[in-house]
Amino acid sequence: MHTSDAIQTRRSVKRFTARPVTREEVESLLQAATLAPNHRLTQPWRFYVLGPEARYAYGLALGDRKARKLTDPDAARTLRETVAAEHRALPVMIAVAVVKTDNPEIAEEDYAATMMGVANLGLAAVALGLGTAIRTGAVLDDPAARRAIGVVEGQRVVAIVNVGEAAEQPAPRSRTPAADCTTWVP
Ligand SMILES: Cc1cc2nc3c(=O)[nH]c(=O)nc-3n(C[C@H](O)[C@H](O)[C@H](O)COP(=O)(O)O)c2cc1C
Repeated sequence: MHTSDAIQTRRSVKRFTARPVTREEVESLLQAATLAPNHRLTQPWRFYVLGPEARYAYGLALGDRKARKLTDPDAARTLRETVAAEHRALPVMIAVAVVKTDNPEIAEEDYAATMMGVANLGLAAVALGLGTAIRTGAVLDDPAARRAIGVVEGQRVVAIVNVGEAAEQPAPRSRTPAADCTTWVP
């Protein structure tokens, strides 16, 4: 597949089919992530491929946060359990972390490189007939979510990337043409 085709057809996938994703496929996606541009070659990315128990525990942490907004305890319990079960059912869930540094310039570069790795992963997935969904938010710093992932001290979780075969191809989201975002500076 041409890179331009992968770029054009990549979508954030909402629902995955039951088609399993092999360990070899996951390994090749992570290998693609590690080829991202990376100033100083700090290779700051760390990947946690979560099994069903870890996905369930992460889902409970996320579900807890969502459930706190509900007043009805039964609805809260159901929501928590639903979110946890949805996560357990995911074909593949990868937590992407970046190694922390005290140097703010390097921290910014390392975050950028890690997210470029996530972009690589998303495009490599398209080439394998797979789709991805990136998830972020305050939950990534939640102690229960960090425990579920098993992330070690000194690393910041910057994204969850779910991977699997897309149940359907979402329509493209409308984008502002590049020309409208561009200034040609003489
Ligand atoms: C850094 C980053 C964080 C994102 N976090 C979320 C998220 O928490 N939840 C979500 O539904 N989508 C998230 N997305 C996906 C975007 O919503 C999605 O890329 C956007 O809607 C455009 O759709 P497309 O990816 O299909 O082109 C994230 C994307 C990026 C790059």
